[in-house]
Amino acid sequence: MSPGASAGPTPSFHVPVPAWVSVATWLCLISLVALLIGMGYRRWRRNHRPKISEAEASMRRWVAWVASRWPWEAQNLGLVLVDETTRHRRPWWSNHVLPPVVCYPRATFYPAANGLRAYVQTLPGVGLDQVAKMAGHLANAWGCIRVEVRQDRPGLLCLRGLLKDPLAAPWPVRPDGRPLADWLLHVGVDDEGDMVLLPLANLSGVTVAGVPGTGKTSLQRWWLCQLAPHPAVQIAVLDGKVSDPADGDYGDLAGRCFAAAGDDPIQANQTLQRLWETMRSRSAWLRANRGTSQFWDAGPSDDCPLVVVIVDESHTYATAATKAQREVCESNIWYLTKLAKEGRSRGFLTVFVTQKQTADAIPTAIRDVCQVGLAFGVRTMDGAVAALGDDIRQYPEIAPTELIGRQWTGVAVMRRPDCAGFHRVRTPYVSEPDAALIAGQYAAFTRDPGSMAPLLSVEGPVR
Ligand SMILES: Nc1ncnc2c1ncn2[C@@H]1O[C@H](COP(=O)(O)OP(=O)(O)OP(=O)(O)O)[C@@H](O)[C@H]1O
Ligand SMILES: [Mg+2]
Repeated sequence: MSPGASAGPTPSFHVPVPAWVSVATWLCLISLVALLIGMGYRRWRRNHRPKISEAEASMRRWVAWVASRWPWEAQNLGLVLVDETTRHRRPWWSNHVLPPVVCYPRATFYPAANGLRAYVQTLPGVGLDQVAKMAGHLANAWGCIRVEVRQDRPGLLCLRGLLKDPLAAPWPVRPDGRPLADWLLHVGVDDEGDMVLLPLANLSGVTVAGVPGTGKTSLQRWWLCQLAPHPAVQIAVLDGKVSDPADGDYGDLAGRCFAAAGDDPIQANQTLQRLWETMRSRSAWLRANRGTSQFWDAGPSDDCPLVVVIVDESHTYATAATKAQREVCESNIWYLTKLAKEGRSRGFLTVFVTQKQTADAIPTAIRDVCQVGLAFGVRTMDGAVAALGDDIRQYPEIAPTELIGRQWTGVAVMRRPDCAGFHRVRTPYVSEPDAALIAGQYAAFTRDPGSMAPLLSVEGPVR
């Protein structure tokens, strides 16, 4: 055979492999690689996860336990939708009709400060009312002292389970004398430790109710300590508890108040008339000097300050003890209603404080135009309704009727203009000497706003 000649076909050792075997091999290989990557990633996560304390770990275990019981809990408490529309359906494998389907609301649970937070999706017939009614049973089942329910957004409820009450301890503070920032008034701290700030802009009025000794006046003191350092704020106080305002709870703050009145309805009437005249003359002043009738377009200034009127024990001015006083009381109610209804756009904010929030103490016409309501402890649900409106009946677990007792002094239920529902707030406590110090320090800022804006001729109430 000559060189280069072919030796014939080379014997082939290729064994034909069925296609499925190679696919399966590839799949196995890919799965193995994915498994190794997954294990590596988990190991990496384990090593790089932030270290959590034993307390936090046990809190997470508890939340997982509560979450695992939710389907069972929801069904036992009747928080379910029985879907009857399935009744007439038949499965493809049989002729028997299907039974109704029982659906429970889907929920996601998270650990939160002092307990847990759960977001629960509503179902037809299972909404805020139904879940709020079961809040007490849920608290028992989860081992919480309280479960609060609120509407987070349409179709979603937010449940707060509290293991301990973050508001049960007093909170003494010492005012630092810094003026308000951005016209946000500090009210207190809520269940989750967040600061509750009240935007003063465009606020018409605030009502504060509560049985004696629950912290209503102390809260006014705290507010005055925040307002006093601002030169664009002027304060008037009507204290229905004492004949001479200098002797009462606001006596130490008198230096920072441009007007004050005691429990005499006639004296109060004169003060209210003066305030009302100042308020009425504001519109013309605002138009002439700012080109608008809306005070808050430019906000408070030294020449056109925010006027805060505190009416403590406001029922004194509205309820007549004698026949002779009736006319004056009617006139007082007229002025107070005007301040509440017309004050917002003219830079007046009226705070009505009373032990007795019933229609005879504070007319509902006044309560309903005040955007913010605070109720410290009250004895009856009717008192809570009078203070906060009828909606509070839907939130019995946080009603102010639960705030009776020494440990709840300074804790209030609040209706806020910017959030739905009600919120419990622990208000700080400022001692009288500390407040007096602030008032004295800024007494030079006190000016009568009536002397700044020219008065126009205005007509008072028909007597
Ligand atoms: N935020 C608070 N934290 C702790 N204790 C408070 C707080 N506020 C008030 N107190 C305590 O409660 C007492 C009564 O407070 P305050 O005078 O504010 O009650 P009130 O509701 O105005 O009562 P009244 O209706 O009789 O005027 C205070 O002297 C103080 O000891
Ligand atoms: Mg008081």
